[in-house]
Amino acid sequence: MSQKIIVTGGAGYIGSHTCVALIEAGFEVVVFDNLSNSTTASLDGVARITGTRPEFINVDCADIAALRAAFAAHRDAVGVIHFAAYKAVGESVEKPLLYYRNNLGGLINVLDLMREFDVPNIVFSSSATVYGVPDTLPVTEETPLQPATSPYGATKVMGENIIRDAVRAYPQLRATLLRYFNPIGAHPSAEIGELPNGVPNNLMPYITQTAAGIRECLNIFGDDYDTPDGFCVRDYIDINDLARAHVAALRHMLNGADGVGTFNLGTGRGASVMELVNAFRTATGVDVPYKIAARRAGDVPAIWANADLAARVLNWHATVPLGETLASAWRWQKQVSGIK
Ligand code: UFG
Repeated sequence: MSQKIIVTGGAGYIGSHTCVALIEAGFEVVVFDNLSNSTTASLDGVARITGTRPEFINVDCADIAALRAAFAAHRDAVGVIHFAAYKAVGESVEKPLLYYRNNLGGLINVLDLMREFDVPNIVFSSSATVYGVPDTLPVTEETPLQPATSPYGATKVMGENIIRDAVRAYPQLRATLLRYFNPIGAHPSAEIGELPNGVPNNLMPYITQTAAGIRECLNIFGDDYDTPDGFCVRDYIDINDLARAHVAALRHMLNGADGVGTFNLGTGRGASVMELVNAFRTATGVDVPYKIAARRAGDVPAIWANADLAARVLNWHATVPLGETLASAWRWQKQVSGIK
């Protein structure tokens, strides 16, 4: 019989791709999502890709009574992948209490109910944001964390600490903290992908929406950073690769790894904003009009991952070439926008 995994936020961008990876790996998937920033159309996409539609429960992780009922119905689950959270850096500065209540309240409820129903394993969505502006590059999991630059970032640092303390106190729990670098791209089928609400904050959807003519012009935030070409550098990781890492993390815990594991999920390579724009043109043949704009407050000049630990311990590494990832992002945008 297949093992059951609860995926909170499973209708979202990373969640839906992880549903595909889990189903393809033979797991049974139950999605808990309040659809605050997603729709169940993503689960239809998962069904078209895999032939299996995950069971869906419309539930808010911040609502402990509703979440308890959902857990009670799935107490046979062997693990939880906890994606459900707010993720807009700027909004978190405007509405810090909303972010703390939702992201940390939701996590605490999930951990409490895992104890109550004896669900032992959790995978937590952390972020490279915990490294702040790092002193050395690339960053390893040992690189000292820096004070968070936004309430959103603070919820990731605090979320990691809450989980570490919980696992220390309740040894029946095991956890994997996955520090995502910059996930981009879509499933190669273009059945699922990223669907930002309104004007995208992030670079990749802004590029594809500009290429589609939805946005007039990409604003590149800053060209005078102390980097090889003056543009910010990030580690862009294919969403399907990222999704597979969650399966690897679960397998590692299900095979008996105790305690808390912490892993960077990146390619190990940095690309500048301009390199990404140029690589998009090469991969798709589509030009993206851009102009240089002022630096964006809070941006880290450069960060990329050393992901050796995930390779060694989880037997996971990024595989999809950047050009393929960019082509998948464009295929998805064309599908969304009805472009032939
Ligand atoms: N950028 C632009 N123009 C845009 C959008 C972004 O030039 O319209 C640039 C940014 O300045 C940055 C790079 O593109 O140099 C990437 O920006 P993103 O917003 O796509 O990603 P960030 O690295 O800023 O943010 C990501 C996640 C956050 C997380 C953060 C730090 O989206 O959730 O990494 O880990 F907090």
